[in-house]
Amino acid sequence: LDNGVARTPPLGWNSWNTFGCNISEALIRQMTDAMVSSGMKDAGYQYVVVDDCWMNPNRDSAGNLQGDPTRFPSGMKALGDYIHARGLKFGIYQAPLDKTCAQYFNSYPGATGSQGREAQDARQFANWGVDYLKYDWCSPTGTIDDQVRAFAKMRDGLAATGRPIVLSINSNSIHSKTGPQRDWGDVSNMWRTTEDITNTWNSGQTNGYPMGIQNIIDVTVPLAARAKPGAFNDMDMMEVGRGGMTDTEMRSHFALWAILASPLIAGNDLRNMNTATQTILKNANLISISQDPLALQATQISFDGTRRVLAKRLANGDTAVALFNQGSSTTTITTTTAAIGKSGSSFTLVDAWTNASTTSTGTISASVPSHGTVVYRVSGGGTAPPTTPPPSTANALSSV
Ligand code: DGJ
Repeated sequence: LDNGVARTPPLGWNSWNTFGCNISEALIRQMTDAMVSSGMKDAGYQYVVVDDCWMNPNRDSAGNLQGDPTRFPSGMKALGDYIHARGLKFGIYQAPLDKTCAQYFNSYPGATGSQGREAQDARQFANWGVDYLKYDWCSPTGTIDDQVRAFAKMRDGLAATGRPIVLSINSNSIHSKTGPQRDWGDVSNMWRTTEDITNTWNSGQTNGYPMGIQNIIDVTVPLAARAKPGAFNDMDMMEVGRGGMTDTEMRSHFALWAILASPLIAGNDLRNMNTATQTILKNANLISISQDPLALQATQISFDGTRRVLAKRLANGDTAVALFNQGSSTTTITTTTAAIGKSGSSFTLVDAWTNASTTSTGTISASVPSHGTVVYRVSGGGTAPPTTPPPSTANALSSV
């Protein structure tokens, strides 16, 4: 979506993975403070996103949304002010039909969705200083065209406020998993490609709930042509630092979200991160690959069912390469500079995890543990001119 924001994948934190509905103003303030004190802000993380369950189940007498008076006693504008005062940006959750997801599942009272009130709610968000809206379709009803129209209404409502606001959509909750079915870049800045993530490596499915790390990668790799400035495949909030995976798996999770140009939205408790978690989430080499101004998603160079090679061209002529082992034992993964579109005979490879620098005349190779990923930034030689990505899947509605 060409609305001036999310020119590279957004970086931030979201409350849902760790806290679900158990959120409050005190908690969000603590997480905002932790974003600064932990060094996450300095590493590039910006958005503090309050997910479902922040709202008063009743709108006010003018029909405006309001924060829950017990959970957010100072109100949502005050929370936005608190976040902005610390140099960060404010994100909030809402739904396009009559109910949010938690309201749909009866774990939260009310029916405060934006259906029919898109412009009014967009104005309220802008008044509160919202910089990022997560907009979550949570209903088994509605065709993909209904979804497109509903998301476009909020897109237009936000545009009418004049405030630059990232629009993050999810079309897959308890629905027919429409995320991969079209290019949503006409209605949003980022769109979920799958149902909800879980802190498991492999949940054994590619079109259901919940989704493991490996499964989300399998779904999102073929969608590379859709990524561009202002428009990204969203692989969901990260599970790094939440248990359920080995450190090797967490490193792969982060490295692949970065090279696949997914938004990097942490989902862990930022107040108590161990060293491994901090080292992963703040890896400057991978964040720089994620935030490259060309905003390309890595494309697949080769895959034999176990060894997957992905490459992402970068603005300065370098190319980032991921050697990802999906198998159950250590293996050597090899590609070449020619295969990733480089010409020449002398290259430097910098390992994104170790910073070790090696030279090569064309071979790119590493021994990679099970579920591990080695990432190199490859420089030197020439880079093939940018190819125009093939047109992405035809949209259900050509213009909305
Ligand atoms: C479904 C979304 O996929 C989750 O990320 C979260 O926003 C929940 N809804 C909230 O109810």
